[in-house]
Amino acid sequence: MSFVVAVDGPAGSGKGTVTKKIAQKLDFTNLDTGATYRCLALEVLKMGITLEDEQKITELSNCIDIKIEATQEGDKVYLNGEDVTKKIREPEVTKIVSQVSAIIPVRTKMVELQRKLSQGKKVIVEGRDIGTVVFPNADLKIYLDASPEERAKRRQKQNEESNIKSTYEEVLKQIIERDNNDKNKKVGALKKADDAIVIDSSNMTIEEVVQKIENLINERIK
Ligand code: DC
Repeated sequence: MSFVVAVDGPAGSGKGTVTKKIAQKLDFTNLDTGATYRCLALEVLKMGITLEDEQKITELSNCIDIKIEATQEGDKVYLNGEDVTKKIREPEVTKIVSQVSAIIPVRTKMVELQRKLSQGKKVIVEGRDIGTVVFPNADLKIYLDASPEERAKRRQKQNEESNIKSTYEEVLKQIIERDNNDKNKKVGALKKADDAIVIDSSNMTIEEVVQKIENLINERIK
């Protein structure tokens, strides 16, 4: 049976945590589409390609091999066979990923890959353009939002837990910059689909958000 739940929203809105929990509870595959753009951004850094060189970045997107494997401890991400699950979350990657993901032919390639990774499965897919571009016919569309301050607080806490050095002010600045980049992209911009259900998680616990989405999925499956 194939069933697609599309979850879009800005960085730090809780998409990652929430979709992982729902996937575990309902036995869905969880696909974090941001990881595909992060892999390419990591490879751009490795190869020393400048962000202006869109042609080289596009070429690179055609020859890298990205695999995402669901495990008990969460998704493992492999780039050309190497486990990069942790590396793709480092601040250097975060800093450039939005710009890399704004290159139009790169998006065509990644959207194709994201559809392939989801084919024929019960999936909960998180990103920015899932309900609008990747799966416009998704069975359920959610737009998960939260205030920039609340999102920065959450990201900073995640960074501390993963031993990634940052300050709240830095994280907030990055989130605002990234929101602007993500919302103003020519293609694949962060946008609520007309038929998406909006959930503002600013004053909700993770469990409350999970429960709300779970109820919506169960209603649609019926
Ligand atoms: O969700 P994230 O922070 O890991 O996403 C990394 C970047 O990739 C972010 O700047 C937006 C971009 N992205 C995108 O353009 N489209 C998606 N479907 C997912 C992420």
